[in-house]
Amino acid sequence: MGDWKGLQAVKDVSKLSYQMWQKGWDEANGGNISYLLTDDEARSLKYVPGTGRKLTLVEGIPDAIRGKYILVTATGSYFREIKDDVEHLLGVIYLPEQGNDYEIVAGLVDNRPTSELGSHITTHAVRLAVDPDQRVVMHNHATHVLAMTHTGPTNERDFTVALWRMITEGVVVFPDGVGLIPWCVAGTPQIAKETNERMKTRRCVVWQYHGVFTAGDSMHDAFGLLETVDKCAEVWLLSQSAGGKNPGISDQGLIDTAKWYGTTLHEGYIS
Ligand code: 13P
Ligand code: ZN
Repeated sequence: MGDWKGLQAVKDVSKLSYQMWQKGWDEANGGNISYLLTDDEARSLKYVPGTGRKLTLVEGIPDAIRGKYILVTATGSYFREIKDDVEHLLGVIYLPEQGNDYEIVAGLVDNRPTSELGSHITTHAVRLAVDPDQRVVMHNHATHVLAMTHTGPTNERDFTVALWRMITEGVVVFPDGVGLIPWCVAGTPQIAKETNERMKTRRCVVWQYHGVFTAGDSMHDAFGLLETVDKCAEVWLLSQSAGGKNPGISDQGLIDTAKWYGTTLHEGYIS
């Protein structure tokens, strides 16, 4: 077995999971991260398919992601502890060419991948179809976004536009907007399906009263997206609780900003 713990992605997950915990986004075992290994990284592991412990993915393995290797956090992993125990709290899985039994390649000792693995795997597949550089999926319980699901708009168009109006950076970083899924039980095929539908046209999906899912080309990309969405939600909550006198960035302002920065706003959200 190659040196999986030496992968840059293992260092990044260790560092970022700790930073997310410091932000208060990952209480107890809240949150999970997955990273699609590059072909070179996968080869360096020297894994022989068929030799690892097998587990079943009830959602099924999408064709787009068969034959790939994914670094993933363990179910029950405390984000503040991952950096000190990658052997148990992190690991690499292999998604076979056939069947729905994936294999544990490295790590995840006495453990198994996150309970949200179905949402992660299918999100990777959906995003790969629109972005060949797609590599990371992150889920956590970002506090301000969560609070906003209790008191903000309950449809995804209005929720997105409310965020965009808060700070100029919004339409620059997430011009595709955010999806919003009404509360449902976590870890189920249903939440995975609802997430995938929205990920076809966005990189960020909010789960009402639960948390946020983001996708990106790198760890820093997905984390930066999460930070920006949460910052917009924080400013929304602060301004609402302070009386919310001003309307925020106008429709024309959002259009002009998107144009200047060369981004395209989610279709139909601003006319
Ligand atoms: P896991 O510990 O299984 O990753 O679950 C954490 C979580 O946030 C569930 O939504
Ligand atoms: Zn969660």
